Amino acid sequence: MPEEKTLTRRDLITTTAKAAAVAAVAQPAVQAAKEAGVARPVAIASRNGLAAVKLAVESMLAGAAPVDAAVAGVAINEADPSDVTVGYGGLPNEDGVVQLDAAVMDATAMTAGAVAALERIKHPAAVALQVMRRTNRVLLVGGGALEFARAHGFPEENLLSERARKIWLYWKENASGKDDWLGDPGDAEDPDVRWFIEKYGDSYFRPDGTIHLSACAADGRLGCCTTTSGLFFKFQGRVGDSPLVGCGLYCDAEVGSAGSTGHGESSIISVGAHTVVEFMRQGRSPEAACLATLERVVRNTRASHLRDESGRPKNNLLLYAVNRAGDVGSAAIWSGERSRYTVCRAGSEPRLLESAYLFRREPARR
Ligand code: GLY
Repeated sequence: MPEEKTLTRRDLITTTAKAAAVAAVAQPAVQAAKEAGVARPVAIASRNGLAAVKLAVESMLAGAAPVDAAVAGVAINEADPSDVTVGYGGLPNEDGVVQLDAAVMDATAMTAGAVAALERIKHPAAVALQVMRRTNRVLLVGGGALEFARAHGFPEENLLSERARKIWLYWKENASGKDDWLGDPGDAEDPDVRWFIEKYGDSYFRPDGTIHLSACAADGRLGCCTTTSGLFFKFQGRVGDSPLVGCGLYCDAEVGSAGSTGHGESSIISVGAHTVVEFMRQGRSPEAACLATLERVVRNTRASHLRDESGRPKNNLLLYAVNRAGDVGSAAIWSGERSRYTVCRAGSEPRLLESAYLFRREPARR
């Protein structure tokens, strides 16, 4: 089996010509990998997916369809309160209410299911699977999604963990000096608040989270899933890319599967996951397809409030892809410790790898 690329350094790939050059050099490596035979099943996920990709591969080895394996894998994150970007313990909206988004897609049947702004149900990806399998529809939102989940026997519970409540309250009390909320100077010393500040910073409260998982079975069948609690402290009812087919996830049996995490609106505007799949259809490797899509995202990021002083996107977007041969790749707009992905192949342990990227983020900058 060819070795996965563990480090990919790319500086300031800012032009289409450079992106095309990246694609051109990537193709021989993909061809060599195919000739050597790439081990399948394989699963690729965002950096928080180490346990999820392992379980997804085990599930496919046990006979599960890729989409079911993907949902089984991400359920680990949905149940884990230490992942504050997904499921139970996910950070709430600006009103302190946890609203979850998720979607699934099966490339063989070309079917999808999704839920958005779903409250009180820990496993939205499993609900999305039921939307796909037990309705004629693709996307259910809000109260309708909750009624549907109730009808299918999903238990209701309070999804706001104590850690998430304390972090939300800290944000609420410090978001503005012009409202009636008064913070306590000691709040920042609370262990849960401290944990959050150390992980995500004290001033920039809009980092990337979410889990996407794309799965490719031994026979090349494909499926995928994306699940999230969404942007931290979002508007009530705000929906990102995760439950939108073509944006947060997409797969096609003839080509491959892809998904995104990070700044959802950037993926929506450029239809991120579908664009990755279409670039793979044109013959690009998964990594080159992700980079070409991000080049488009950069070109489409035109509003001044979304661009930094150098005209580059302020926000990060990460893409993940697998083709039907089992080759994987990932790329981010910005480098950094959070621009990583996880992959697991049959017969190997899961690995955390660095995504390719367009722009290098200086270490001091979060
Ligand atoms: N990518 C997740 C979100 O924007 O909600």
